[in-house]
Amino acid sequence: MTSFQEYSAAEKQARISIEKCTSADELDKLRAKYLGRQGVLKDLFSQMGKSPESERPARGRELNRIKKELTGLLEKRKTEFGSVSKKEEIYDPTLPPPFVDKGKTHPVIKILKEVENIFTSMGFGIAYGPDIETEYYNFTALNIPENHPARDMHDTFYVKNYKNTLLRTHTSPVQVRVMEKKKPPYKFIAPGRCYRRDTVDASHLPVFHQVEGLMVDSNVTFSDLKGVLHLFAKRMFGTKVKIRFRPSFFPFTEPSAEMDISCGICSGKGCPACSQKGWLEILGAGMVDPEVFRYCGVDTAKWQGFAFGMGIERIAMLKYDIHDLRLFIQNDLRFLKQF
Ligand code: DAH
Repeated sequence: MTSFQEYSAAEKQARISIEKCTSADELDKLRAKYLGRQGVLKDLFSQMGKSPESERPARGRELNRIKKELTGLLEKRKTEFGSVSKKEEIYDPTLPPPFVDKGKTHPVIKILKEVENIFTSMGFGIAYGPDIETEYYNFTALNIPENHPARDMHDTFYVKNYKNTLLRTHTSPVQVRVMEKKKPPYKFIAPGRCYRRDTVDASHLPVFHQVEGLMVDSNVTFSDLKGVLHLFAKRMFGTKVKIRFRPSFFPFTEPSAEMDISCGICSGKGCPACSQKGWLEILGAGMVDPEVFRYCGVDTAKWQGFAFGMGIERIAMLKYDIHDLRLFIQNDLRFLKQF
């Protein structure tokens, strides 16, 4: 005959097992073991028949109490495990995490952000303009009148059915948009995408990126332009880099120049990367042409300014020693993962 002590021993044992249990699966097994059809409690109930009749009500009450308690405890533990799948149950928090391929910033965007950081650290703001421009902003107000040969150089995509509307061929129109709205002084850069009707080859893409720069103040000179661009070149290509300016022509600047940097591969001695010149062209620049100021309503007696424009793909090619522009748009992960 089973004693009341055995009842409490069974209850205690069941409680300990249920409390220690670590998975929903194990919990199911314990439910079967203690409350199942062939379980411990069932067995104790059936043995009750062997006890004196006078004890049976008390035994019955005690066993029912234990059954209720254990059922409650099992339910409580079950909610702790929730509806956890088998896979999660065997989750081992000490294992290293699975590899997650996070992706990377595209090299062109990386350079663009670097250029932005360099100029904003010099106090330049950032301005944006629309990719779809009008002929007025893209050409006319930049002193490139209709039939001017400079328009041919830009091989423009025109927007069908919208007269005088085009995809901007450079970021220079942002200069005009800012100047006609704001009163000087200001200094800002304008990064963005540009479009030209070029056939894709190693040095041409129909979509590319430029960063424009403009500074207008009451005492701006060509030497300010040189100082700012020299600092930029040193931050971008290293402190040893040398710069030089060659006279050039842009309709929106006078005088105009192109800036070269010393070739980082041969340190200016001449090598295949710089076509034996020792120098690599990186941007166009100059003092804002008074004609452009007039289009924008800026008083030329009071204000002067310098402007510059650079191709971001070109800078990325120089910095990473890449010889084919097409690599930037092919989305080959073997290429992109290197940056
Ligand atoms: N807009 C010129 C181009 O796309 C680049 C440029 C040259 C911008 C000289 C300037 C500048 O602001 O002063 O070729």
